Amino acid sequence: MRLQGRIALVTGAARGLGRAIALKLAHEGAIVLAGDLQGCPETLELIGKDGGQGVTIQLDVTDAASARAAVAEAVRNFGRLDILVNNAGINRDAMLHKLEPQQWDAVIAVNLTGVFNCLQPAATQMRVQQYGRIVNISSAAWEGNIGQANYAAAKAGVIGLTKTTARELAKFAVTCNAIAPGFIETDMTRGVPPKVWDVMIAKIPLGRAGQPSDVANAVAFLTSDEASYITGELLAVGGGFRI
Ligand SMILES: NC(=O)c1ccc[n+]([C@@H]2O[C@H](COP(=O)([O-])OP(=O)(O)OC[C@H]3O[C@@H](n4cnc5c(N)ncnc54)[C@H](O)[C@@H]3O)[C@@H](O)[C@H]2O)c1
Repeated sequence: MRLQGRIALVTGAARGLGRAIALKLAHEGAIVLAGDLQGCPETLELIGKDGGQGVTIQLDVTDAASARAAVAEAVRNFGRLDILVNNAGINRDAMLHKLEPQQWDAVIAVNLTGVFNCLQPAATQMRVQQYGRIVNISSAAWEGNIGQANYAAAKAGVIGLTKTTARELAKFAVTCNAIAPGFIETDMTRGVPPKVWDVMIAKIPLGRAGQPSDVANAVAFLTSDEASYITGELLAVGGGFRI
């Protein structure tokens, strides 16, 4: 119970990594606000079955007012916000020469501006309470990936945002780190053709796709007091993908 009594907001928590992160933080004792476009009733049910506590909220991270309302709800109901996990993300893949402006805009809106929208009100609250843990979910694709110019640009942007936040908030005992998942088995990746899947697995030294729980375990560590001296870092969770 490393997060006993902590108040945590997880974005994109209806499925995939976000759901696993919400479940893990609740399992560690946090009270979790699980946010997603249509709320997260199933995630909440799973948290309850595991003996944890949480609430579900409707949250569109592309809407700054919606993000501010989510942080305000945490403060109104629980008096503070200790942990923010910016996980919500989408992909709209296309080769650069075919990338439509709408595909560019949509990915930047969710994956980069969405992180800023939640981070700003959360950081403001964390400065006041002089405590906070922020984890932003970037991606191994931040270094560049064929067919993912929009996604890679957004995920690289998240790293700059993470490091700047870490510098600005360090004196308030607020840490901010990013995680770069590699190839994790979720709805986002299940759609890839079997041949591509095999190519991806062949590139992973540990020889398997990651599970959402692999990322959730890293988030639990970075949001715990065990990681109080770690800030501004990018942690790869990719089975050795980048070696
Ligand atoms: N799966 C992977 O292999 C992988 C690898 C690297 C990084 N990531 C990143 O991890 C995060 C989660 O990925 P996933 O695989 O679980 O994806 P997913 O598609 O399974 O889940 C994403 C969740 O985000 C929510 N969401 C989308 N737009 C939103 C918005 N505007 N406001 C609030 N919620 C919104 C969706 O409703 C969904 O529940 C993303 O940021 C993704 O880029 C995933």
